[in-house]
Amino acid sequence: MCGIVGIIGKTSVAPQIVEALRRLEYRGYDSAGVATLENGHLDRRRAEGKLRNLETKLSQAPLSGAIGIGHTRWATHGKPNETNAHPHATEKLAVVHNGIIENFRELKTGLEAKGIKFETETDTEVVAQLVTYEMRQGRPPIEAIAVTLPRLRGAFALGFLFSGEDDLLIGARHGAPLALGFGDGEMYLGSDALALAPFTDDITYLEDGDWAILHRTGVDIRDESGQSVRRPRHKIVTGSFMADKGNHRHFMAKEIHEQPEVVGRTLAHYVDFSAGRVALPFDLPFDFKDLKRLSISACGTAYLAGLISKYWFERLARIPVEIDVASEFRYREAPLEPGSLALFVSQSGETADTLASLRYATSEQQHTVSVVNVPTSTMARESAVVASTLAGVEVGVASTKAFTCQLAVLLSLAIAAGRARGTLSAEDEKELVDALIGVPGLMSEAIKREHQIEVLARELSKAKDVLYLGRGTSYPLALEGALKLKEISYIHAEGYAAGELKHGPIALIDETMPVIVIAPHDAVFEKTVSNMQEVAARGGRIILITDEKGALDTGLDTMATIVMPAAHPIVAPIVHSIPIQLLAYHTAVFMGKDVDQPRNLAKSVTVE
Ligand code: F6R
Repeated sequence: MCGIVGIIGKTSVAPQIVEALRRLEYRGYDSAGVATLENGHLDRRRAEGKLRNLETKLSQAPLSGAIGIGHTRWATHGKPNETNAHPHATEKLAVVHNGIIENFRELKTGLEAKGIKFETETDTEVVAQLVTYEMRQGRPPIEAIAVTLPRLRGAFALGFLFSGEDDLLIGARHGAPLALGFGDGEMYLGSDALALAPFTDDITYLEDGDWAILHRTGVDIRDESGQSVRRPRHKIVTGSFMADKGNHRHFMAKEIHEQPEVVGRTLAHYVDFSAGRVALPFDLPFDFKDLKRLSISACGTAYLAGLISKYWFERLARIPVEIDVASEFRYREAPLEPGSLALFVSQSGETADTLASLRYATSEQQHTVSVVNVPTSTMARESAVVASTLAGVEVGVASTKAFTCQLAVLLSLAIAAGRARGTLSAEDEKELVDALIGVPGLMSEAIKREHQIEVLARELSKAKDVLYLGRGTSYPLALEGALKLKEISYIHAEGYAAGELKHGPIALIDETMPVIVIAPHDAVFEKTVSNMQEVAARGGRIILITDEKGALDTGLDTMATIVMPAAHPIVAPIVHSIPIQLLAYHTAVFMGKDVDQPRNLAKSVTVE
């Protein structure tokens, strides 16, 4: 999940590359680097840590050169130090890379057998050495790339700069996104269009397997077989994503896997990472400190995102929150004090009940803010303030990435409210923003538990009924887990507040009933453990989703424990969304269900 950029410009490009990298820093900031060509010679600056360290280096030793590539790293192979920082270079070329070259060990062994020495622990250096090897055999750069790309396995995007070639950049896309930007006598390459937004809005997205040969005057795009192809040019709309399944069997799988990327992108829109503060991308026509009450309404998964945010708004900003499913709110004739805030959450921005609730709130002189994913939707048009989630197009009917992006936006709003109301200090804000910065990385970590979850899903698929339990923000997550499972696997599932168990649902528990408990090691952890004990005592089979500390502290036998990376308790629900989504997904896939288009459902519910 690194960010890459390449520019063939007219004047010195290093400052532009740094600017683009700043917009990509949400993808990783373990190290950063730039390489340019000065009089045909490759030169590079790299620095461990955040981009500002690289900027300091560049100010001490500037790079000139009108062609260059840059990288901001989220380490996968090798420590996040300067040696492992990109661009990686040989005497022939420099390369930047996002993603993983899965067969790098095998390729490296082959090159080492030919006497090639490696300087770093990265998979990327293998690519640099492979292409260099081909060039040493006399192949020109384009041919060397053409023979190298088919040898690489994994999901990656690459950008190459060649010694002595001051009008040539090559980019390649294989599973990880890569966009081309068209300028006036300049060409750009970037992990996303947002990175290139300061320079151009004229964008072509490479398709999977494509590689592109860039010159100042244009680009030759080749497909996997080496044929020149044409790809459409778009006037870029912020947040748009190509609706393809990538390397996944289903859109839902792709969308689950995309979450570190799109949550990072969304956060980058709401948070000034370097200043450690929330920076909302819009002006508010009210002041949070004047609000007496906040009402939230939404449907389904969006409602559950709203329910999690109730805990955040109340805890962080001390605003009393009232939340309702929109189908109730719209007819409830709730008395709303004029000038209060009404918040709506919707992926589509078209859900009939949520839209009707928005209209009701508007007629009751409420300030309206809508958290929506489709920027052109009716709700976006009719709300006073639109808080966009940048999840990109969500195709799977079961909402996944829109949900976690909604959480990212809602938490940013709650932090902003807390600051405005004086319930959070600047240090508190910094602590929370630091926690938010870590979220995409933690989500990637969480996705690594997929294999364990897939195996477990086979067991779960045998169940007739499943119970989900949680406390605090894990309670709405329990409801979301149950909703996800029932809508795509058609297994009956219920979510309960763990403390409610003994008030009825405990009667259901026997040895055939899996009970999924979501319990990060937070302030209510011990209480949830007591509820788990009540389940265990009645023979219930517990699947525990917790973190490392939680796994150590339960002292209970479980059917399985899925260990999440440790996260700040406030952001934990964003990270813990991943295993509940994966569990529902793999259960439904194992049962042969149509996960992207489950029976009886629709993506956009425009009827009440
Ligand atoms: C469940 C799901 C639905 C939607 C609900 C609201 O996975 O996707 O429950 O969350 O229909 O839709 P939007 O967010 O478009 O208002």
